Amino acid sequence: MTGKILGTGSCVPATCWDNNKLAEMVETNDEWIKERTGIAQRHVAGKEETTATLAAGACKAALENAGVSAEEIDLLIVATVSPGMLVPCTACEVQSIIGADNATCFDMNAACTGFLMALNTAQAYLAQGIYRTALVVGAETLSNLVDWSDRGTCILFGDGAGAAVVRAESEDRYAQVTHSTGAKGGVLTCASANVNTDVKEMPNTHIQMDGGEVFKFAVSKVPEVINELLAQENLTADDIDCFVLHQANARIVGSVAKRIGGDAEKFPMNIAKYGNTSSASIGIILDELNRSGRLKRGSKIVLAGFGGGLSYGASLITW
Ligand code: COA
Repeated sequence: MTGKILGTGSCVPATCWDNNKLAEMVETNDEWIKERTGIAQRHVAGKEETTATLAAGACKAALENAGVSAEEIDLLIVATVSPGMLVPCTACEVQSIIGADNATCFDMNAACTGFLMALNTAQAYLAQGIYRTALVVGAETLSNLVDWSDRGTCILFGDGAGAAVVRAESEDRYAQVTHSTGAKGGVLTCASANVNTDVKEMPNTHIQMDGGEVFKFAVSKVPEVINELLAQENLTADDIDCFVLHQANARIVGSVAKRIGGDAEKFPMNIAKYGNTSSASIGIILDELNRSGRLKRGSKIVLAGFGGGLSYGASLITW
């Protein structure tokens, strides 16, 4: 038995900053950002909006879309690198907001591969028969981690949440391949403030990145892991109806599409509207595709995530 996605939901902050707004803060411009990244705007959390409230908004929308009540959820996993609180975990905060009182709740951090890793984890629990209905959500308030004076990073990221309700009721195969390369983790970092400053210097608690190295990693490893998954499942790119990639940069998605050899239309993008929302991006675009009617029941979809860790992976689902 594997988990079928019964419904999806997403939630983004009310405030939206276009590239011209960022050009008032750092030396950049709309043309450069659009050309190098494909990003036109990003949502930025206000005072009342936290990772937990965005996650809860996405979860409520996903439950409604699935026709499932909060009480029916028995596993709730939040993927995030930007929890508002370390304890309680964001998943427990979400549980309290949405009333998923019967759920077991925990957070996962796999950076931009987070949604994929959380879905894989939920699928493993469902396949074992441990839980029946899971709620998987990727949620971020990266605006709290971004150095708004660093034009190399602040233009890229955005806030938001995307969720999926997954129930063990399918006979279709769920397949996945994941990898991590901790030795290269230094190219994309964000330190925790949890340090004894009597002994150590305060580390940089903002996102720091060697953009070129991350770019090279993504355009080589993402096609590689997708091809590994397809080979494992005896499939070719032609058998796949849609490749839903983590939205980090339009040029990365375009390059992966070329290397995989699939029709470019099979690689949807929404990065122009949201920027890179890390753990949330796959859930948000999946929700848009679902609500637009693009995903047909029975179609084969490859999800692919990649980012800090470094970690990357691809999963095959049947819609
Ligand atoms: N606006 C204007 N100019 C900028 C700029 C900005 N926001 N950021 C950098 N530049 C400048 C650089 O200083 C450099 O100037 P120079 O040639 O005078 O030195 C020039 O633009 C080119 O910089 P470079 O870093 O080579 O640009 P790039 O084409 O590699 O694009 C990224 C930079 C960050 C957009 C790109 O490397 C990238 O997207 N990397 C992957 C990042 C990512 O996806 N991270 C998350 C992974 S989950």
